Amino acid sequence: MKSEKDRIAPHPVLSTYYVDEKERRQRVDGMFDASAKHYDWIINVMSFGSGRHYRRTALLRAGLAPGMKVLDVGAGTGVVSLPAQIIVGNEGLVVAVDPSRGMLTEATKLGVKQAVMGLGERLPLEDNSFDMVTMGYALRHVDDLRMLFSEYLRVLKPGGKILLLEISRPKGKLGLAALKFYMKTVVPGITRLVRRSSDAQELMRYYWDTIEQCVPRPTILAAMEDAGLEQCECLLAMGIFSEYRSSKPG
Ligand SMILES: C[S@@+](CC[C@H](N)C(=O)[O-])C[C@H]1O[C@@H](n2cnc3c(N)ncnc32)[C@H](O)[C@@H]1O
Repeated sequence: MKSEKDRIAPHPVLSTYYVDEKERRQRVDGMFDASAKHYDWIINVMSFGSGRHYRRTALLRAGLAPGMKVLDVGAGTGVVSLPAQIIVGNEGLVVAVDPSRGMLTEATKLGVKQAVMGLGERLPLEDNSFDMVTMGYALRHVDDLRMLFSEYLRVLKPGGKILLLEISRPKGKLGLAALKFYMKTVVPGITRLVRRSSDAQELMRYYWDTIEQCVPRPTILAAMEDAGLEQCECLLAMGIFSEYRSSKPG
């Protein structure tokens, strides 16, 4: 049985927002629920309109093709699930999983066909049933990376693939300061001003804090390997956009 010391949390306790793991879960779900109707607007502004295109091309680069069965974990409003649905077509299937009811409600309104409430680290899905598992910018919100990757291994078919998108902390001090100013001050400020939502403003501050405190790439890759995944790699673009890939042994 796994003990607390085996757990790999994606970041330490962020005491500005919550005191312990139990409260973290409630706070995170509450923040996403309250900000769900602002989320697509925020990512559009934050990425200067390129967020959707980037996610779609990342899916194609990872080998997503017509007819595949995809599980999109931490699906949110469906920003990854929707292009995946188009790529896999009517012969394929995309199941969107998320613990936030608010995010899933938006996802369904926007056209996501199958939405299931659940956590990445405890997937309510059958073994060996998906060709690809995707996760866009949700890794920082799970309880334990080991459990997450064990679950991915379980639900993937033999030879199935994983694509995980994340924003990573830049290495240089200047890059870090610039990105922090943009993501912790500019994006939350604009969100508050235009959307008039203090919840969405807080979510975006939290978003940055989890990026800044996130465990480094080698820790994430080692957790994937420990779970039994193979061909684990991370492609980095512009020093911040990380595409983690791996697969289940065939
Ligand atoms: C920043 S949003 C990402 C949405 C979308 N995938 C994208 O690419 O923009 C993070 C999502 O992860 C979800 N989430 C939080 N904790 C999670 C967990 N333990 N397992 C799966 N998803 C989780 C949140 O509810 C939220 O919808």
